[in-house]
Amino acid sequence: MDFNITQDIFSAFSLPESATLSYNPSIYQKQEKIIQGVTLAVNQDPLVISLLKQMKERIGSHYDHTIRTGIMHIDLISFEQPTWKDIPPKTINLVGILHDCGKLEVPEEILFKEKELTIWEKRAMEAHNRATYNILRSFEDNYPAIAQIAAFHHPYFQPQEVSENPSIRRAGELLRLADHYDALSSRRDYKSPFSPQLIQEILLDLFPKEGPRINHLLQHYPSKEFSII
Ligand SMILES: [Fe+2]
Ligand SMILES: [Fe+2]
Repeated sequence: MDFNITQDIFSAFSLPESATLSYNPSIYQKQEKIIQGVTLAVNQDPLVISLLKQMKERIGSHYDHTIRTGIMHIDLISFEQPTWKDIPPKTINLVGILHDCGKLEVPEEILFKEKELTIWEKRAMEAHNRATYNILRSFEDNYPAIAQIAAFHHPYFQPQEVSENPSIRRAGELLRLADHYDALSSRRDYKSPFSPQLIQEILLDLFPKEGPRINHLLQHYPSKEFSII
């Protein structure tokens, strides 16, 4: 299978019911720069390419979600501060686009179920966070803190050995925010995209201190359904 991460990123943002890249040329230019950085990071590492290829083949729409979240996460990271002590740029470039790689281990009938999951199916789904952590631990020699940041994207699995380092925790929190934003603004098997007002309401409830970051996402990654072009 030919693999082209740049194409995959643009197509993930072009789906009919998903968040999209900005219609504002100067914001769009910054987003293109982020995408270039991710492309360079991915293409330098055959192991990363191989993992992304497996995700593309096996987790379908979850792959699109994962790569959109990755771009939004990098954007939030640089919106917060230009340089991050303790986290190298190569980790920042890859952690978001790999954050749901653990879904490779979730059975397909659960991953793509169109009805509400049972309690047991939910547990199986939630196990993807632990699986992500385990997969990405083998990447930590090359990408310090990548598994630890990814582990913060859901509260239901926080490994004991995860760092107390504030930068790592903060990068993880921003990943959680980007992850929620994408889930709310895009179509899922069980729901349509939500309106910007509803997204703002839900996110402020979940993340009361993140107002400026929530507005940043709403302005830079509008939901196609609700945007006036
Ligand atoms: Fe997840
Ligand atoms: Fe996710």
